Amino acid sequence: MPHFLAKTIELPKLPLEIDGYHFLFLAKDKNEILIPTIYLNKKFIIKIRDRGSDIYVGYDKSHRVSPIGVLKGALSILKRYSKDVISENLTITKERQKELSGFQKEPSFFLDYKFDKDILLEVGFGSGRHLIYQAQKNRDKIIVGIEIHKPSIEQVLRRIKLEGLENVFIVSYDARLFFELLPKFSVEAIFVHFPVPWDKKPHRRVISQNFIKESRRILKSDGVIELRTDSERYFRYSFEEFMKLEKSSIKFEKNRDLDVVSKYEDRWRKQDKNIYDIIFSNNNPIDRDRRSFDFEFRNVENIRNIINIEKTIKKEEYFVHVEKIYEIDGSAYLLSISFGSFETPERRFIVIDGSGCQYFGSKPIPTKANIGAHKEIEMALCT
Ligand SMILES: C[S@@+](CC[C@H](N)C(=O)[O-])C[C@H]1O[C@@H](n2cnc3c(N)ncnc32)[C@H](O)[C@@H]1O
Repeated sequence: MPHFLAKTIELPKLPLEIDGYHFLFLAKDKNEILIPTIYLNKKFIIKIRDRGSDIYVGYDKSHRVSPIGVLKGALSILKRYSKDVISENLTITKERQKELSGFQKEPSFFLDYKFDKDILLEVGFGSGRHLIYQAQKNRDKIIVGIEIHKPSIEQVLRRIKLEGLENVFIVSYDARLFFELLPKFSVEAIFVHFPVPWDKKPHRRVISQNFIKESRRILKSDGVIELRTDSERYFRYSFEEFMKLEKSSIKFEKNRDLDVVSKYEDRWRKQDKNIYDIIFSNNNPIDRDRRSFDFEFRNVENIRNIINIEKTIKKEEYFVHVEKIYEIDGSAYLLSISFGSFETPERRFIVIDGSGCQYFGSKPIPTKANIGAHKEIEMALCT
């Protein structure tokens, strides 16, 4: 990660604009200073930490910046304010800039996406064999792969480039939340192949009543969920979940051959394990639009005493945790908070000043958990 280490740094007076970078203000706590910064339409936060023996100048990971050269540019400017730099990694290299492939999308990309082609979704694509196979077979359709394991994502992005595919989007996010962002009746098929069974932590399973409900909303009429698993226990569990529906069409198969064998399947087949399929057809779709929400703060004229704000709020489906409160000046603050769902929390900064409260950078995405958490933050901040 781009950063430099120095013995001392004498920060300039802010706001300051240099080479297109707008360094907005200093927000301080005991041993850390943050500088919210804007370059073109990119917003990010420079972090300066006094570590005793040296000063670390890097950035806060809550904001992804691409290409990484933008960040390096900002840090190189700040480096000029230090006379005794110890080390740095701010050289701009071409390969790194290219790495965030155009195929990888932020979840929020899908809020404005025109769904004018048929969409296939794959949850937890792992090594990506099935994903690539579907993309090659269906060049007129869009294949969206959702995965939380970063090395798998990087590997598959390389494969997509190598195969010259143009009809794939990759999303690094929890599929269970991602579905909430898609419009109703927009998806033709959802593949869930060899999900983690989570025998000891069933709440982490992909298949649940909520997942089935969101799938019935985003799937077209007669669209399918194809679940494939080697775990008989997961198969039985999923079967029961589907059977809870009042009206449904479900097909089962055992040891069905597919045209492509995934890495996991390969392993189980070598061990002579059974493979179970459940194919659910959406003949009873749910007619509900995805949620939209503005994430504005209301009642900001009555902001409470920030320093004494409740640090942690826990509800059944979401939480809010105030990580740090940085002082901008005596009456303005920058709050670092994590919030939303327990599995895939968001991190954001909220600027609180005389004109009110607002998120710095992009607003959260409108999942049920984020909307619930935002309302809690609003209540905690304002009377
Ligand atoms: C057992 S692997 C199977 C990979 C692949 N489908 C195959 O058949 O080889 C399960 C994958 O699901 C991913 N995963 C688990 N929970 C997920 C979630 N909530 N959203 C997206 N991906 C998830 C894991 O990171 C892992 O790569």
